[in-house]
Amino acid sequence: MIEPLLSVLADGKFHSGQALGEALGVSRSAIWKQIKAIEESGIEVFSVKGRGYRIPGGLDLLDQAMIEAMLTPSVRPHLQHIDSSLIIPSTNAKAMEAVYRDGHGSLYLAERQTAGRGRRGRDWASPFASNIYFSLTWQFNHGAAALEGLSLAVGVALIRGLKRMGVDEVAVKWPNDLLWRGRKLAGVLLEMSGDAAGECYVVIGVGLNVNMPEIAAEMIDQPWVDLRQVLGEAPSRNELMAALLNELVPVLQQFADEGFAAFQQEWQAVNAHHNQVVNLNLGNRQALGVCRGVDKNGALLLEEEGQLQAYHGGEVSVRLA
Ligand code: BTN
Repeated sequence: MIEPLLSVLADGKFHSGQALGEALGVSRSAIWKQIKAIEESGIEVFSVKGRGYRIPGGLDLLDQAMIEAMLTPSVRPHLQHIDSSLIIPSTNAKAMEAVYRDGHGSLYLAERQTAGRGRRGRDWASPFASNIYFSLTWQFNHGAAALEGLSLAVGVALIRGLKRMGVDEVAVKWPNDLLWRGRKLAGVLLEMSGDAAGECYVVIGVGLNVNMPEIAAEMIDQPWVDLRQVLGEAPSRNELMAALLNELVPVLQQFADEGFAAFQQEWQAVNAHHNQVVNLNLGNRQALGVCRGVDKNGALLLEEEGQLQAYHGGEVSVRLA
């Protein structure tokens, strides 16, 4: 259990081994072992003889009570179960495992993911206490086909939440990559469980780069950006979490009632490739055309030789031709 020790060291100040031991009710050697465990989890700890231990720069840890206090009164009751972890393989994996136990409206947060999942089998860089990683379980009743535009609606909700935090110029690359000036800021991974023709649960996984350490950035194989670069300093992750949830929950409710059509115009307004020539990688073939936005189901519309073609499915990639 390194959580209590991390909470004390989060202030970035020096704490002696003895003071830490007294505060946490354990021996100095137990503190030393926990310091090693913290270092192994990827967090730098300064250790200075005679002064003790300190985490340079401190840590902005997620605080469930603080997040809950910032949720709007109409949103809070819809989050029926909140689970926040320090280090787990993946919040999506945890949500998928617990989907029938915890059910609708369950939120999973983590400070670090050791096997963060991206789309198309990619990894998602998830260093400790640096970014946002969460998954939300939501139940829908009209089958998988009605959910085609869900990931696009989630993108719209995230952009609304970011705007509330003063983050402008965020665009979306079909279906749901959030870009800032062409660099990836956030990604959404939806996973589904249940009856494809009726009641099913969707796990909505969101990864948002807030304050990416250089060492973690080395594994990212595409142009990326974080909010520290966008805003000049990293915003509070607790405020961000609440701002995103305050937009996401109402969007999910409206999506369940009205489908993607309710968000089509808003999605088009933030389409990163509107009226640009794009290349679609469909796995077995490529398509080249002018991006004309999305239809009311969220399918991508490409104009190819004067004809509009709709492209469905999650495995399509878009990039500038
Ligand atoms: C993408 O490739 O763009 C999607 C990235 C999704 C990452 C998030 S982080 C929280 C949740 N848990 C995961 O393992 N993946 C998603």
